[in-house]
Amino acid sequence: MIKISSNKIIDKIINSSRATIEEIVYLLEADNSQELFEAADRVRHDICGDAIHIRGIIEFSNHCRCSCLYCGINNRNKKLVRYRLTTDEIVSIAKEAYDVGYKSIVLQSGEDMHYDADIVSSIIKSIKSFGDVGVTLSVGERDYEEYKQWKKDGADRFLLKHETADENTYNYLHPHSSFKRRLECLHQLNELGYQTGSGFMIGLPDQTLETLAKDILLLQELDVAMAGIGLFIAHDETELKGYPSGSSLLTLKCLAITRILLKRPHLPTTTSLEVKDFNNRHNAFSTGANVIMKKLEPYKYRKLYDIYPNPTIKEKTILEERKEVEDYINKIGRYVSKTPGHAIVI
Ligand code: 5AD
Repeated sequence: MIKISSNKIIDKIINSSRATIEEIVYLLEADNSQELFEAADRVRHDICGDAIHIRGIIEFSNHCRCSCLYCGINNRNKKLVRYRLTTDEIVSIAKEAYDVGYKSIVLQSGEDMHYDADIVSSIIKSIKSFGDVGVTLSVGERDYEEYKQWKKDGADRFLLKHETADENTYNYLHPHSSFKRRLECLHQLNELGYQTGSGFMIGLPDQTLETLAKDILLLQELDVAMAGIGLFIAHDETELKGYPSGSSLLTLKCLAITRILLKRPHLPTTTSLEVKDFNNRHNAFSTGANVIMKKLEPYKYRKLYDIYPNPTIKEKTILEERKEVEDYINKIGRYVSKTPGHAIVI
């Protein structure tokens, strides 16, 4: 058998921005990913520069109508104490963050219909009135008219992960919805002019390397402006209790391949990677990532936004945490972005 070199495949992907499932699987299987990681770091440098965008995320409600089999805040988890922040609370947290330098606010929640279209609109408008600040929504599947209204009110981006590109697995993991509906929402968001983000998890049941290749190719098809690629961590109050966690190395390989193939998306280092091993933050920044997300809501709520087990650390203020992450970014030889970090267009 002719031995193909990773290097050749990597160069081909970078130059043509095309990859086959087989080529991606080959890179995911490789024992040594040094060349892939270095290539991803080069592409990140050339396309995104050395800035790291710090996004402030407000997880404003853990009520959720969905029953995702992997997620700790699924509606079947009766043990979880549920919370909702008021509009005033959300806007005042966002203001505190804006005042210490955040230029990008992500509003995330479970699928909570308590926040109707007008409530969300008023939050978007209040935050946009601060000044030069990007607003990202991450509130799940909603009606086209709602997406449209929020875009008109100033929302810049929308995050809606496809979670897995395998339709059967998707439908099994999301009994309340369907893969088709997910894609429909993603296409609507694109059509409405959102900077759209998607993403997937590594380590889901029945996942193969082919599935991961399809996940990356789906991100390309959707032409995403950002992508969250994280590893699955089992939660005790879910159907996937006891299931093994995803691999950090495989997650980093997916991140790197996404960078060399798609080039332009903003790619965060995901918290799930850091939960496994804090060094993974640095690893992700060396293999294609250019974004970090920091939680902003009070700690008593963070503990309840219990998607997967995540040991809580010492309480700090929004300012202290901002300083800490800025120092970290400078220490690793990158710099803190001073802009909202909108989509990169190439
Ligand atoms: N492990 C890792 N990520 C998870 N998510 C939900 N549950 C888990 C889990 N157990 C991620 C999904 C989802 C977002 C809410 O969090 O990608 O989109």
